[in-house]
Amino acid sequence: TKTEEFAAKAPAAIPDGVYAETVLSVEHYTDRLFRFRMTRPAGFRFRSGEFAMIGLMVGDKPIYRAYSIASPSWDEELEFFSIKVPDGPLTSHLQKIQPGDTVLMRKKPTGTLVLDALTPGKRLYMFSTGTGIAPFASLIRDPETYEKFEEVILTHTCRDVAELKYGFDLMEEIRNHEFLAELVGDKLKHYPTVTREAYPFQGRITDLMESGKLYTDLGVPPLDPAADRGMICGSTAMLKDTKDLLEKAGLTEGANNKPAEFVIERAFVG
Ligand code: A2P
Repeated sequence: TKTEEFAAKAPAAIPDGVYAETVLSVEHYTDRLFRFRMTRPAGFRFRSGEFAMIGLMVGDKPIYRAYSIASPSWDEELEFFSIKVPDGPLTSHLQKIQPGDTVLMRKKPTGTLVLDALTPGKRLYMFSTGTGIAPFASLIRDPETYEKFEEVILTHTCRDVAELKYGFDLMEEIRNHEFLAELVGDKLKHYPTVTREAYPFQGRITDLMESGKLYTDLGVPPLDPAADRGMICGSTAMLKDTKDLLEKAGLTEGANNKPAEFVIERAFVG
């Protein structure tokens, strides 16, 4: 019939019960990494460090993947930092978005990399590899992080130097920000390392923890469960190896309903 013919040609309708937001800006860092910002739905609330399900209509079906929200909870826009997987079901399409395009988001954010899941401490370590920096991009821009901790150490390890750029951009944004600059002061330390290219700070974070170089470089004492708290976000293997080292130092894993000394979350789209 004519109606069926029309339905087949019309753009697929946005599914019910999800947000449809507008892309505001896109920045490509490398052929593997990009960041984008989009509008934030009026009623959408989340805690810094949480993730949401982000999607696109692909043909007539929505495809979703979990993405850490990289912007802090006070921001009026939402930011995401994404990998580009050449034949990834979502990222092969998402990497082509332009300002003005529509991105879908499911309504309920969740996640364990939240300040509430940690017991009080002096120093907060955020260990990240690759796009695992995204939840920390949110937390380092949240004033609550600095109310709870005297010192915040963000480690970011990537294969090559170009992949570190998002982290440097974040640090510069904080330094130039009208209220964050003063509030953060010198409490935040950025520790970028690279594994497959020459760079002043080289090696996997796990190796730098084991050798103690991380602590001597930063001028801090080795991990101590009385003072130190941790959050980890990276590949499955990185999570396991880093978690083992934190446990060896005497820290225990926490959760939303049972705060403890460290929490972990997979960097989802890998
Ligand atoms: P490497 O180059 O030695 O594999 P990817 O882009 O593959 O997710 O890797 C991001 C970074 O995480 C790379 O620098 C990589 O180092 C590092 N990495 C990979 N596996 C581990 C692990 N098990 N523990 C710590 N770092 C890891």
